[in-house]
Amino acid sequence: MSNYETILVEKNEEGVATITINRPDKMNALNTKVHEEGVAALEELQKDDEVRVVVFTGAGDKSFIAGADISEFAGQTPVTQRAVFQQKTLFNSIDTFPKPVIAMINGFCLGGGCELALACDIRIASENAKLGQPEINLGIIPGGGGTQRLTKLVGDGMAMELILTGDMIDAEAAFDIGLVNSVYSAEELEEETMKLAKKIASKSPIALQMAKEAVKTASKSNLDEGLKREIDLFAITFSSEDKEEGVAAFLEKRKPEFKGK
Ligand code: COA
Repeated sequence: MSNYETILVEKNEEGVATITINRPDKMNALNTKVHEEGVAALEELQKDDEVRVVVFTGAGDKSFIAGADISEFAGQTPVTQRAVFQQKTLFNSIDTFPKPVIAMINGFCLGGGCELALACDIRIASENAKLGQPEINLGIIPGGGGTQRLTKLVGDGMAMELILTGDMIDAEAAFDIGLVNSVYSAEELEEETMKLAKKIASKSPIALQMAKEAVKTASKSNLDEGLKREIDLFAITFSSEDKEEGVAAFLEKRKPEFKGK
């Protein structure tokens, strides 16, 4: 793996890579460099067949990501800011990344941080996490997918309340509205997230990719288109050696060994 300035990238032997946003003195705020390096790291991890699942988290024990780096907003014009968000952002790179991505939310998860978590496939939070879209307090609105992905996940009413008030909610409230999948104590967060990531990493990488694409299609198309796409993706899994292995292992009453072929 390349060396990066603003992120740390680690891989374990069970196929899980962790990307840690490493600006703890700035609450891991997302500046341009983090976006560039995060996008580059995902491009590397996409090509790495050993990596089957990616986990995003923040350095330190206070913050996952406290939003876009507000200091970079000063002096931006509509034209320059639009260009920044039209470039390859980390939000879109995560959204289109073919392997499963989990957000391990270990503290403040605000603004662009919440949007990054929303672009991930699964969100696991620690009890001390605080989540929200506080952009309205700066006189702006979310621009990294927050108004769209949050609404699709939690529905219009809750998304409106979070976006219009800018209020932060705790992990338990986030769980209640479906914004996070599970909540653990700060001590258990990493172990439990890794347990989940390793379980997913043990499945067929081809089936994971098809499953992710199929589920994503549900929020990006209408039901008829989605059902058609699902059949195509389902059919593609029948071309894999992993499907033969999965079926054989079931019939032979043993654990399958998926190779991603
Ligand atoms: N962009 C840039 N810097 C940020 C930041 C952000 N989004 N969030 C925090 N920081 C910086 C602070 O400016 C401070 O830097 P300094 O030590 O050089 O002054 C450092 O991180 C620590 O933050 P601080 O505010 O002192 O910590 P806190 O515990 O009192 O409060 C937060 C934590 C997250 C509640 C608070 O920092 C905050 O509200 N951040 C902005 C959240 C936001 O509006 N995000 C959406 C942006 S669109």
